[in-house]
Amino acid sequence: MDYETVIVEIEDGIAIVTLNRPEVLNALSGQVFNELADAASILADDDSVRAVIITGGEKVFAAGADIKMMASQSAVDVATSIRPSKIAFHLIETMKKPVIAAIAGYALGGGCELTLVTDVRIAADTAQFGLPEIKLGILPGGGGTQRLPKLIGAGKAKELIFSGDIIDAEEALRIGLVNKVVPVSDLMAEAKKMAKKFASRGAVALQLAKSCINEGLQMDLEIGLQYEHKCFSLLFATEDQKEGMAAFIEKRKPKFKGK
Ligand code: CAA
Repeated sequence: MDYETVIVEIEDGIAIVTLNRPEVLNALSGQVFNELADAASILADDDSVRAVIITGGEKVFAAGADIKMMASQSAVDVATSIRPSKIAFHLIETMKKPVIAAIAGYALGGGCELTLVTDVRIAADTAQFGLPEIKLGILPGGGGTQRLPKLIGAGKAKELIFSGDIIDAEEALRIGLVNKVVPVSDLMAEAKKMAKKFASRGAVALQLAKSCINEGLQMDLEIGLQYEHKCFSLLFATEDQKEGMAAFIEKRKPKFKGK
């Protein structure tokens, strides 16, 4: 995978996708979204990859959509140019494997929205989050008005979106925007540790658990419970379920095959 604005490395079954436009604080251009979408669809189909980490490196995650590219666009232009971000976000959010965001420095606007389509957010103590679009005379157009309230509640989401304020990692942890905060020097080690733990679990069970949670957020409770019941039953057709339960009974570690 040879890209200009994104670097993809695979280590030990874990893919690390690093945003790579440091000169503009990893601002998200159409090219970034196209490359992210391409990488996401390849990694989704690569069975040797068991988990994905998205990061911007140790200095900055992403300072949002590329304002310089958007500034002169018409309403018609934007309706078209926003498509690559929607495709990339959809592919990441629905990927059948866990995706972790490892966030240092600014995660603003579209950068913050990118973290919202991942499954788990780990923040460095240097991380700063916000949806400052309101200060540009626009609103979060990368799913922020929809996904943020689901994650942290409507009241807190409205406060962040209406004010455009930037919050630090500790505040992000307090309101449930991130799962944990670690020293920046430990960020990637922590993300890899979590990715390896997820990768060691039964891949089919994890995939269906992710689907139950993501789909369940769109459904009413009764239909969500029915969907969970079907997925739960389906897992009893997998080798991993036989292996996981046999390993428990035999007091050994399971060897999952993802089948
Ligand atoms: N788009 C394009 N370029 C950006 C950028 C962005 N979102 N954010 C930063 N840059 C560029 C700057 O223009 C600057 O480039 P030059 O050196 O060529 O001037 C370079 O990155 C470094 O930035 P600063 O000099 O501004 O760095 P700073 O440390 O003083 O400030 C900052 C950092 C507070 C993050 C500031 O850059 C900033 O406010 N950035 C914009 C944040 C923002 O509004 N994000 C939302 C974008 S809109 C969006 O995301 C829409 C959506 O919902 C999808």
